[in-house]
Amino acid sequence: MDRIRIKGGHRLHGTIPISGAKNATLPLMIASLLTEETLILDNVPRLADVGQLQRILGNHGVDVMVGGKRPGETPYDGQTLHISAARIVDTTAPYDLVSKMRASFWVIAPLVARMGQARVSMPGGCAIGTRPVDLLIMALERLGADIEIDGGYVIARAKDGLKGGEITFPKVTVGGTHTAIMAASLARGTTVIENAAHEPEVKDVADCLNLMGARISGAGTSRIVVEGVAKLGGARHRVLPDRIETGTYAMAVAMAGGDVLLENGRADLLQAGLDVLVEAGAHVSATNAGIRVARNGAGLAPVEVKTAPFPGFPTDLQAQLMALMTCAKGTSHITETIFENRFMHVQELVRLGAHIHLDGECATIEGVGKLTGAPVMATDLRASVSLVIAALAAEGETMVNRVYHLDRGFERLEDKLSACGAAIERIAG
Ligand code: EPZ
Repeated sequence: MDRIRIKGGHRLHGTIPISGAKNATLPLMIASLLTEETLILDNVPRLADVGQLQRILGNHGVDVMVGGKRPGETPYDGQTLHISAARIVDTTAPYDLVSKMRASFWVIAPLVARMGQARVSMPGGCAIGTRPVDLLIMALERLGADIEIDGGYVIARAKDGLKGGEITFPKVTVGGTHTAIMAASLARGTTVIENAAHEPEVKDVADCLNLMGARISGAGTSRIVVEGVAKLGGARHRVLPDRIETGTYAMAVAMAGGDVLLENGRADLLQAGLDVLVEAGAHVSATNAGIRVARNGAGLAPVEVKTAPFPGFPTDLQAQLMALMTCAKGTSHITETIFENRFMHVQELVRLGAHIHLDGECATIEGVGKLTGAPVMATDLRASVSLVIAALAAEGETMVNRVYHLDRGFERLEDKLSACGAAIERIAG
């Protein structure tokens, strides 16, 4: 298994290109199941999760063609995928495929909407809490699907197709909102989704579905209305930039010091995260080319942050912020309100010399003068990258083990950071 070695203490200077968003790419690829025509996605990041979803879709009979290199293209330009679900040959998504990635459970919605049936294994994914699928099931039931749970599989049936309905989510769920929108797009009649997720990735998927012929309004707000259509067609859509990757590198610059342009990063997708960075003492400015983040010399101020659904501070940046706050001048508090067990990075940050105390959903971080390099390992994607951030400022060498978590969600992480002066390398193993 590959490892990443980091020698701390180097400031970052230069440009980091931001890739297409993982959390938009995955539902966009799944949306291809809704049509017999080809969906073309540009700016797709080269990530292990994208490859894994390609295998899952392949099992349903979907062909995925990856576009070849184009003149002037750099290794950082996203891929173009041509996805064709002309003939779905299998409506089962088996355990060995779905257990590796939670988002793959979402295939249940387009499969039942288009084929009238789906049999999908209960999901797996990052170890960040129990992460049930009850609200996704509720949404499908509200659209008339019969649901049965048997042998670890959720079986959804709608022999005569789905029917529009009212779906009110008791809590904001991104996956639930994706599921409801995809299913409702091919249902007969109108669906109203209340307390929908506002996340920009939801809006990106709805924009793509509308290009495919769907009739969705209100995406990006808490009330989404979907007028079902009989069929969807092909489309070409460019995946929006990854706001979590953007925020992660912004925190890396704040941690290591320096001055970096996050090329293609969009401040409007990340305002809450950028506000916290400014409060901590980083300089942040939005430019036409992206977001510039700098910190020169001055110490970091502590912060009080609670994660929240968009437009609040994202749970997917909580671990990275905690890494940053380990070196603040004072005590910070970070409260995780979305997932009950998303603190797997704490004990690893402590190995590097951080002072963190956990009390339920609240972490108290007492800033220390310096961190010291050590071997570390993480059990989820964002936790892994928080260790990279901490290592950038730690004295000596840090070895981050189990790098496959990073490869799930960060494209060419070590190349992007080393191009800006970080001493970081991958050791194949
Ligand atoms: C999406 O996960 C993201 N994944 C996550 O990104 C992200 O952390 C999360 O949204 C919150 O922003 C993708 O987009 C692929 P939820 P999702 O349904 O949809 C509870 C990353 O690192 N819930 O919004 O699975 C749930 O347990 C990740 O890229 C139920 O109770 O998250 C959680 O507490 C990991 N019942 C809360 O809702 C349900 O049926 C929000 O989860 C569904 C969810």
